[in-house]
Amino acid sequence: MLGSRARISGWGKSLPERVLTNAELEKMVETSDDWIHSRTGIRERRIAGPNETTFTLAVEAGRQALRAAGTAALDVDLIIVCTFSPEFGGMPSTASLVQHALGATRAGAFDLNAACSGFIYGLAMAQATINAGMNDTVLVIGAETMSRLLDWSDRSTCVLFGDGAGATLLQSGPESAGLLSCVLGSDGSGGELLYVPAGGSRHPASLQSVEGAQHFIRMNGKEVYKFAITAAPRAALEAVARAGLSMEDVDLFIPHQANTRIIHSAAASLGLTLERVFINVDRYGNTSAASIPIALCEAVESGRIGPGDTVLLSGFGGGLTWGAAVIQWG
Ligand code: ACO
Repeated sequence: MLGSRARISGWGKSLPERVLTNAELEKMVETSDDWIHSRTGIRERRIAGPNETTFTLAVEAGRQALRAAGTAALDVDLIIVCTFSPEFGGMPSTASLVQHALGATRAGAFDLNAACSGFIYGLAMAQATINAGMNDTVLVIGAETMSRLLDWSDRSTCVLFGDGAGATLLQSGPESAGLLSCVLGSDGSGGELLYVPAGGSRHPASLQSVEGAQHFIRMNGKEVYKFAITAAPRAALEAVARAGLSMEDVDLFIPHQANTRIIHSAAASLGLTLERVFINVDRYGNTSAASIPIALCEAVESGRIGPGDTVLLSGFGGGLTWGAAVIQWG
């Protein structure tokens, strides 16, 4: 459609019922509520139950987004599931399973892996296909079951993450509102700062890889921290400039919810007071690609975003990857 813009018409989220508190983690590994909260801001996170998977969380979030938009599954042209904890190791994609479960029989579907930046990458792909006139309606879901990739005896990682899914429906609409800009970046030289050593073509699953706990997340926290506090604000500044705006125009900043110290640092670099920053990492931990769409959904539902508002999203993560987007809320 000529002169159209990708706008967010629906949103949804799905979180496991099971809450894992810092007090419970104190009984599992050598840690404390004080250490976790002072370093990360996290108080509790959600953990998938035996019948909950990346697929089930994604389907529920996607269903809610369609309902919020008042759009039938049959009208969806494309489904993108952003995840690095997919339902299966190789195929089928989680997105294809979601497509079937939703009854979106006209839709194409694929998974997208840009770790915690995945949702921003998904938005950019949705925007590109809508602006090119290829699709009218694209469902972008961020969904993760991080708990299945965690070594629960490694205190340096297991306290940081949580499970969940968030979804947005993007549809072509008038140019007056919608996604104004997207910025994406990557630096693969830092790939091993945050990675899952085995299970891919370099180190296929073997008895040794399982015995060596190599199917779990390994992270160099200090280096990731240094990367995060520069990459995320830099991308945010670029996205705002590309939208032809300045930081004063931003009504709400929704950063990737990894850690309140990183969020506070990014906000300070951008000159944003905390009243203009959305934070829910205290309740969910780092849900990777799901963190921004869950936060966006909560921000809309709680009235923090209203018509005409300018919303800035920014993320960073494994790869290394980063990204930012600016939305004019319709
Ligand atoms: N409880 C208690 N002590 C701990 C814990 C824990 N859960 N984890 C580590 N420690 C210890 C370490 O063993 C170390 O002890 P030592 O000094 O005796 O060796 C000490 O705490 C390290 O403490 P700090 O230096 O204060 O830790 P730091 O300030 O670096 O905080 C943290 C660690 C929170 C991991 C920080 O580095 C960080 O936030 N990094 C970024 C992580 C991140 O955001 N990752 C996600 C990226 S997104 C994605 O793609 C998934």
